[in-house]
Amino acid sequence: MSKILITSALPYVNGVPHLGHMVGCLLPSDVYARFNRMLGNEVLYICGTDEHGTPSEVGAAKEGMDIGEYCTKYHNRHKEAYDAFNLSFDYFGRTSSLQNEEITYHIFEQLDKNGYIEEKSIKQIFSVDDNRFLPDRYVTGTCPHCGYDKARGDQCENCTKVLEPTELINPRSTISGSTNLEVRETKHLFLKLPLLEKRLAEWVKTKEPFWPDVAYSIAQKWLKEGLQERCITRDLKWGFSVPKPGFEGKVFYVWFDAPIGYIGITKQWADEKPAERDWKSWWLGAKDVRYIEFMGKDNVPFHSISFPATLLGTGEDWTFV
Ligand code: 2FM
Ligand code: ZN
Repeated sequence: MSKILITSALPYVNGVPHLGHMVGCLLPSDVYARFNRMLGNEVLYICGTDEHGTPSEVGAAKEGMDIGEYCTKYHNRHKEAYDAFNLSFDYFGRTSSLQNEEITYHIFEQLDKNGYIEEKSIKQIFSVDDNRFLPDRYVTGTCPHCGYDKARGDQCENCTKVLEPTELINPRSTISGSTNLEVRETKHLFLKLPLLEKRLAEWVKTKEPFWPDVAYSIAQKWLKEGLQERCITRDLKWGFSVPKPGFEGKVFYVWFDAPIGYIGITKQWADEKPAERDWKSWWLGAKDVRYIEFMGKDNVPFHSISFPATLLGTGEDWTFV
């Protein structure tokens, strides 16, 4: 009997569950979990809601709700929908759980201790009327390339050009429509991916026979272009507070703690029945575990580059896909 760990990409909590996610990711992972159970393998099948980030903040504000309560409302809605489809998760958890916070902090502290975290100041758009920094895609304006007047600060949907929010003509806040915007300097933490690139590339190479061609080629494309330092913190209220002096009021970027959520959710599952379940036997020094991830194509860079690099940088023996 083998131990098979299966994770299905965690759907964003905001908004209702949709069929695309069901067909592309949830059903295939469910079939795979059932198949392995039929073979007599010991299966742990994990999923849950991805709850941090600006969309949750904006969604809660629109409904006039506290963010935590908003996430609970939509987490339950996801859970009910998946139960109605009889999906066979061993646990459907949440990235906002205390367990995920604990593991996210541990992983961050290891990365910091090992020299993979760097502090840098960046310029970001601040909305005076919203009293907050705006993530790039929450700045709207006219595209300097094609003149489309609803271009987002990260990319123009009309001509697909990648943009800086400061390039937009007549920029405004997507949240309130306010044009009272300023460029302000703010301090953030970056994961030094270039230092991990060589080890990561060697690891990815070993996956060629196992990963689907599309996943392998996306990872290779990123490696070929050269990895950049990645900002892992944000000026938001909703998220895990950054546990480092000088970073009060900042939180981890949603994509930092979301994949760690697979581990955090396993700990949620184990904490319910601690006498019979152990999360570490699946995730740390777990030589007997085979790990399979299910996700949409858009999620491949995070799962094949940033998440494995995050785990590699800890210097600990985490389970890799
Ligand atoms: O693209 C998405 O829907 C993300 N919420 C997937 C996250 S997967 C994992 F990293 F949590
Ligand atoms: Zn354009």
